[in-house]
Amino acid sequence: MNLVLLGPPGGGKGTQAKRLQEKYGLVQLSTGDMLRAAVASGSEVGRRAKAVMDAGQLVSDEIVIAIIDERLDQPDLAKGAIFDGFPRTVAQAEALDAMMERKGKKLDFAIEIRVPDAYIVERITGRFTCGKCGAGYHDTFQQPKIAGTCDSCGSSEFVRRPDDNVETVTKRLEAYHAQTAPLLPYYDKRGALKLVDGTMDIAEVTRALEAVVDSAG
Ligand code: AP5
Ligand code: MG
Repeated sequence: MNLVLLGPPGGGKGTQAKRLQEKYGLVQLSTGDMLRAAVASGSEVGRRAKAVMDAGQLVSDEIVIAIIDERLDQPDLAKGAIFDGFPRTVAQAEALDAMMERKGKKLDFAIEIRVPDAYIVERITGRFTCGKCGAGYHDTFQQPKIAGTCDSCGSSEFVRRPDDNVETVTKRLEAYHAQTAPLLPYYDKRGALKLVDGTMDIAEVTRALEAVVDSAG
């Protein structure tokens, strides 16, 4: 089973990918996380990506396609992948189709987690993650059970993303509508697009996504 999660910044792709990963043994492939790791490592790709990410724009197709191409060859993807934040342009979607075919894999669904822009600033500006294990939280919607302590690993070190501010969110939303929204008809035309209402609470969105995955039998 290979899934693409589509949706705006802060729409819940990462939150839900982690939940589906646990339930189905699929592997979350987040190009955002991979690029942030490249930035943290100080690599050439990281240096090229950092300014673009901080400005809320899209990193070049060439860079992200190369990252995914390499990742798809690794052996942990036997049960399949959840693409989170990739593809983000029609060129990336076409490249993904070509890569999957070349590697003998199949894309089952592209699922749009639909969240109107009006929700997004609050989602993004309230987000924080565990600095040690990456578990995701929100100041209002997903607080740790014990304040200041990660539910998953017990760490007390939390981080916020440098691009999670009001100015950059506006740019990221613009990029989503201009460059990524065309992927909705791209997948719909071949009957692969599913829609989930991303304004429900986190557990309800998970249930709706599981219903889609389970429908594949
Ligand atoms: P990326 O890391 O992919 O960021 P994004 O698409 O902007 O999405 P986010 O990670 O911000 O949101 P999410 O949908 O994962 O939401 P989350 O689950 O965390 O990309 C970052 C940058 O990298 C891009 O701007 C670009 O520069 C570059 N990049 C990455 N991929 C690229 C590509 N393919 N091509 C080119 N450039 C690329 O949820 C958000 C918050 O809301 C959390 O706090 C969560 O707890 C909360 N929440 C989640 N669901 C709910 C709910 N149902 N109700 C209430 N709160 C909720
Ligand atoms: Mg994310």
